[in-house]
Order: sequence, then structure tokens, then C-alpha cells
Amino acid sequence: MSDIKRYPVKENIGLTTLVNNDQYEAMYKRSIDDSEGFWAEQGKRIDWIEPFTQVRDISFDEHKVNINWYKDGTLNASANCLDRHLATRGDQTAIIWEGDEPTDDRHISYKELHGEVCQFANALKTQGVRKGDVVCIYMPMVPQAVVAMLACARIGAIHSVVFGGFSPDALAGRIDDSQVKVVITADEGVRGGKTVPLKENVDEALTHPSVNTVEKVIVVKRTGANIDWHRSRDIWYHDAIAKESKHCQPAEMRAEDPLFILYTSGSTGKPKGVVHTTGGYMVYASLTHEYVFDYQEGEVYWCTADVGWITGHTYLVYGPLANGATSLMCEGLPNYPNINRVSQVVDKHGVNILYTAPTAIRALMAEGDAAVTETKRHSLRVLGTVGEPINPEAWEWYYRTIGEERCPIVDTWWQTETGGIMITPLPGATTLKPGSATRPFFGVQPALVDAEGNIVEGVGEGNLVILDSWPGQSRTLYGDHERFMQTYFSTYAGMYFTGDGARRDEDGYYWITGRVDDVLNVSGHRMGTAEIESALVAHPKVAEAAVVGYPHDIKGQGIYVYVTLNKGELSADKEVNDALVLELKKWVRQDIGPIATPDLIQLTSGLPKTRSGKIMRRILRKIAENECGALGDTSTLADPAVVDELIEQRVNR
Ligand code: WT7
Repeated sequence: MSDIKRYPVKENIGLTTLVNNDQYEAMYKRSIDDSEGFWAEQGKRIDWIEPFTQVRDISFDEHKVNINWYKDGTLNASANCLDRHLATRGDQTAIIWEGDEPTDDRHISYKELHGEVCQFANALKTQGVRKGDVVCIYMPMVPQAVVAMLACARIGAIHSVVFGGFSPDALAGRIDDSQVKVVITADEGVRGGKTVPLKENVDEALTHPSVNTVEKVIVVKRTGANIDWHRSRDIWYHDAIAKESKHCQPAEMRAEDPLFILYTSGSTGKPKGVVHTTGGYMVYASLTHEYVFDYQEGEVYWCTADVGWITGHTYLVYGPLANGATSLMCEGLPNYPNINRVSQVVDKHGVNILYTAPTAIRALMAEGDAAVTETKRHSLRVLGTVGEPINPEAWEWYYRTIGEERCPIVDTWWQTETGGIMITPLPGATTLKPGSATRPFFGVQPALVDAEGNIVEGVGEGNLVILDSWPGQSRTLYGDHERFMQTYFSTYAGMYFTGDGARRDEDGYYWITGRVDDVLNVSGHRMGTAEIESALVAHPKVAEAAVVGYPHDIKGQGIYVYVTLNKGELSADKEVNDALVLELKKWVRQDIGPIATPDLIQLTSGLPKTRSGKIMRRILRKIAENECGALGDTSTLADPAVVDELIEQRVNR
């Protein structure tokens, strides 16, 4: 590892740094040695209605996991994002909305956002939404998506945002799981010049026999497209708010009342409804947003994530707005209509902090310097990445070409379940090494465990666990605390298991090596292999399917599928088989959504199984990676000949 480059902290980058490395070390030490005292102080960065007196009450015992932060405090998340700013920065822009077309944008001040959130909160009440009800938000990247989230928070309804790229089936499953009362959507979404039929998808999802709790569908008019209308159920957003007051008393919520549910994929079973609560989440979102991005008063901050993911929740909405930032929200794609769109948006709005994903960086990098032509990017000060390990080449390109060697890069490791950033450099404090997420954030105690469950000390490699709670941690899975304990706390008793592997170097820096379970990371999106497999076996011609990841230049991981067909379905005619492969790709796309579309499908007469019938994924992974010389031990296979056929007919060349 001696050839690893280091980028020492620069003195002249215009950072008004919050901490230098010595301060980081001291603050980190205190946050661990005196967790109670540290988090009691940090808890004050949020406005409480009833101040807390208890800071933490935690059990990581695998059979009775119970996580409480600021338990006896009460607050309202939307008041923390809006009302608290009205006196000091009511006229400051809260959200800059940049539409899909470069000519389309809007500035929304804190005062305006507050007014619209109150109106919509009142509208939700009028539509029968009460404290504790679940509201599903299936929206494009328009300001009303943020309004809807904050309006739910204002009245104590629990929002469940479902990414607009998910299919009607995937949406139906998520609506059904949390007994959603109201769905908020748009007639259509717009991305990269194409429209997405959101309302039509909702209509279809609601025809599923299992979905029977939805009373109202509120529809934002985005494109004015023709849509079906169910008179007793559907209501336009603009009609719903028309007569509502711009004042709405924020509901007093307990710190541990749920703020939102967000579904994410696991290695088995259906998607998990990760639950985040109010007090700890808000403290953690606001603290990490300020320190990790070195956020300074009045700056323009741009997180490119969709609100359908946790990054959008914590670092487009709750963190920046709690801190009174100007948060930029972009409707479209980073390369539409031109490859230099990101840079153009940076110049147009004077973006100071840019937070994006390695997959987007690699897509821009693939076009050489075209991504920066005719742009200056002088406003940029800090760059961030999230979602998957960033390869050093992409890091260097981001650093040199986008940031002109001026801006530190924060490579932030975290998860839907962690609520906020966990392992990350702090700009101006941490010497950077391209490809490393570096050091833990305040209060975070990562550790590595070996196959036997022993903690690895010093330099080494293992599975990444977190030894103690932090305020942003997810508390449970919606309706299934048993699964929560089982998934995260039973692998290594008394520790939170992340599902990732990592390595720690001689400086104590962490290098995340990726998932160690059957979860794929495709363009920074988490995909459960089991979900894709169950979509495939639902096809009438498919007998069995096994899904693995393989390295993909832009997406990080691509989806490689092995399919065995029912007797007689495999044709002797290549064209017939090719047509079926296309049909299967479309099938998965329709069942889950475009992000789950298989990249490569291999039709095979069998899968490598042990004598007890377990599919040996290790072998399938190697073949998909085109590393057929290193298959390891195949002697336990029921029929070793299968492997020769798989290698022979692999489709990744
Ligand atoms: C998984 C979590 C956190 C918001 C976006 C994804 C991978 C995330 C990094 C990073 C290496 C990363 C991990 C993690 N991951 N950030 N900086 N370096 N890997 O949230 O969908 O919950 O996925 O993304 O594998 O477990 P998510």
C-alpha cells in the first residue's frame, strides 16, 4: 500500500474550517469517552419543544435491541427546518430548483417554503391524515416532494418516499407493507427529456388485491399530461392547498416518534422498511451536514441524490434545511442535455459544495474533459461522494478536473440504516487518500471482525461492525422488530453488522471493500439478488435463476443473471434464445424498475449446487467476473460438469 497517494490538508483553499486534525482527534476522543456529555451538548443544536433530560438508553443485546436517544424530549422536525429560520433568514433561498431543461428554475425562500408546507400540512389534515398515519410519496424531483415530506413531519404523519423509478408492483409492495393511507404523486415526472408515468403507475399499484388501505391520491400537476381520474379518490395538489391557511401549528412529537420509513433491499426476502425517528435523526443530520461538508452560513449546497433515497432525505432535505442552507434540487440527469450540465449548474447557481455519486463521476469522466468545457466552477469549495467505493482514477479525475485540485473530497461511507454519514474525511482536517473513506465521524465506533467473530486490531481486514449506537441509527424495521434484530445484531452478538467488508491501514484509515452479503450495488443503488431472482422465476418459462454482480465500468457493479428454463423452453435456434433474453430483461424492468434491469443473462441447463441443493454463488461470481481460472474448490458440487458448460457459454466477454 506504499504507492497510495496522500493529499495533505491545504492551507489556502478558503476553508473556514470547523476543525483541524488535532481538534478532530480531541473531539472524536471525547465523543467516545464521554458519549453522554458529547451528545447532550450536540443535542442542543436542535430546537426542542420540551428539552430532553435523558441522552441515551441503548441495548444492542441481540434479543432485545432497543435504541433511544433524547427519549423524554419533544420537538418537530419541520419546525427545525423552517420556523426556526424565519426571523433570521426568512427571505434567504431555502431551495433552488433546477428543472430538467436548463431554462427552467425557481428560487423558494424559507418564508415561502414555510407557507407552502403549512398549507399542505393543513390539506393533509383535511384529507383525513392524522398523527402516526403513513403517507407514501411517489414523486419526481420537484419542490412539492420536499413540501410533502415536511408537511408530513409537521403533523406527525410518517412519510414513506418511494423512488419514482420503481415499478407499480414494487410500489404496491411498499404501500401494502406499511398500510399507507394517502399517496402523493405527480401526473408525470420528467428526467433527461423523457417522461415517467407516475400517476398511471400509482393507479396500477392500487389495483393490486393486497393494496386496500389507500383513501386518497394527491396529484401534483407537473406536465399536464392526460391521466385517468378517480373522482372519489384523486385530488389535485393545487386544489387541495387552495383554501388552506399558511399557518399550521407544528405537532409536538416525542424524540422517538417515527419521522419516516424508507424501504431498502436486503440479502433475502422483501424490501425492509427502515424506520428513522425524530430527535436523534435531526441532531445527527444537522451535525454531520455541517462538519462533513464544512458548511458555512449562506452557502449554496448541492446534493444530486433523488429524494427517493436516504441521501436525499438526510442531505438534500433534513440536514441542510435544519442548518439554514440553500439546498439545490435538480430534477434531471447529470448529463442532460449536455455532458457539462453539472458544471453549468455549478456556475449558474454558484454552488459551493457538491455531493454526488461515483457512478455519476465515472459517467462524466468517460467523456474526457467535455464535462467541464466552457465552465469555471470557481465557486466550488468542497466535493463529496457517496454510494459505493470510489476507484482512485475517478477520485483523481473528480479532484483535478471538476475541483481543479482546490477542493478536498469527502468520500462518505454510510447506509440507509445509519441515517447519516459514519466514516468520512473532514475537509481541512483529514489528509486524503483516494479511495478511502478515512476515519470515523464523532461518536462512531467502527471495528473489523474476522470469520470467527473476533475483533481485528490494528492493520487488517474483516467485516465492518459498529460497536455502539449513534443518534442517527435506524430503530427498527416497520412492523418487524424481530427481523431488525436478526438482520443487524445476530451475526455478531452485541454489535451492529453493516453487511460491508473493510480494511484498515497503518493510519487507522478505513477502505470499504463492498458488500459481503448477497446485496448488489448498482450505480450506488442497493439491489437484493433475491428480489431479482424472484421476479425472474415468476416468468412462465423460467425454472430457476441466480443473480450475481460483476465489475462494470460506469455502474460499479452490473447485474449478471443465470437462468435455467423449464423443460423444452431452451431453443436450438440462437435467435429464439436471444429474443427470450431480451424479454426477460424487460420482464425484470417492469417488475421492479429500470435500475434492476439485468445487464447480462446467461441461459444455462443447470446451476452449480452442493449435494444438499445450495447454489454455489462463489463460482457463479467468479464466472461472471470472467475469472474462470480461480474457481476454488468445486469438489462438493453435485454435478461438477455444470461448471464447464457455464464457463464455456459465459456472456461477459
Ligand atoms: C451501502 C449502503 C449511504 C447512502 C447511499 C447508499 C455502500 C455507501 C459508500 C462509500 C464505499 C459505500 C456500502 C453500504 N456505500 N457509501 N463511500 N464507500 N461503499 O445507501 O442504499 O443504504 O447502501 O452502499 O456497501 O453498505 P444504501
